[in-house]
Amino acid sequence: MHIVRTLPELRAALSAFEKPAFVPTMGNLHDGHLALLKLAKPEGDVAVASIFVNRLQFLPHEDFDSYPRTWEADCAKLEAAGCDVVFAPREADLYPEPQTFKVHPDPRMADILEGQFRPGFFVGVATVVMKLFQAVFAGHAQGVAAFGKKDYQQLMVIRQLVRQFALPIEILAGETQRTAEGLAMSSRNGYLSEAERAEALQLSLALRGLAQSALSLGQALPEKREALEQSFMSLLQDRGWKPDYLTVRRRVDLQAPTAQEPAQSLVVLGAAKLGGTRLIDNFEI
Ligand code: PAF
Repeated sequence: MHIVRTLPELRAALSAFEKPAFVPTMGNLHDGHLALLKLAKPEGDVAVASIFVNRLQFLPHEDFDSYPRTWEADCAKLEAAGCDVVFAPREADLYPEPQTFKVHPDPRMADILEGQFRPGFFVGVATVVMKLFQAVFAGHAQGVAAFGKKDYQQLMVIRQLVRQFALPIEILAGETQRTAEGLAMSSRNGYLSEAERAEALQLSLALRGLAQSALSLGQALPEKREALEQSFMSLLQDRGWKPDYLTVRRRVDLQAPTAQEPAQSLVVLGAAKLGGTRLIDNFEI
């Protein structure tokens, strides 16, 4: 496995290949990331993963400084999973000057849900993903990149970015990987105490409950949706959580469903803080 830091090194490592298969990450790898590599690798002729904790997508009060950096373990996992090239730029390699040009996703998609509670998050994500795509795919007529459904809204923003800039990159969506109990795998699970880890399951249980109730409302969902969402947020609140949102949306654009929406076109999404840790999860209905 090749480890490269700079753009020229990356380009040299990829120059002999035709179709890179790429998994961008911020490191602290878990089975969710490795499943993305497994999904992408057979679709290309060289498997590339990036490890870069992107300052641009963190708000000043968020966990950029404490975000877990587990370089050696990450490299061992990537090597065992068949990764060919790891791109791990230093900040100055990816941002050699202040990034004043940014990619601003459609606010209808990016200023709701995660974007409402983490303003600027998707500008930071879209900007770094565009730079990483440029780094990995420049000089290649085709490529694939894999993103997890765990970050559902991020996946949709990236799909829209690729479509609207007509990038020759196929986006693959990896299913959320869960522990045996059902907890969605996330690097931020590492912040949880043992007791919090057991409690953390309640977010996915609340989302499943919300999905089931939404289904049983059928055509009445639009008028009863907000009250229903509030009742599931209250359930979590009563257990000591601080929910940002638990909501039923259309998969296609993450807007509120109308009475016409067939049930299988919906998704439930949630974000809530447990102690000092903010967790997100979702289920397609
Ligand atoms: O999902 C992530 O880990 C990050 O948002 C990404 C896509 C690597 C961009 O920094």
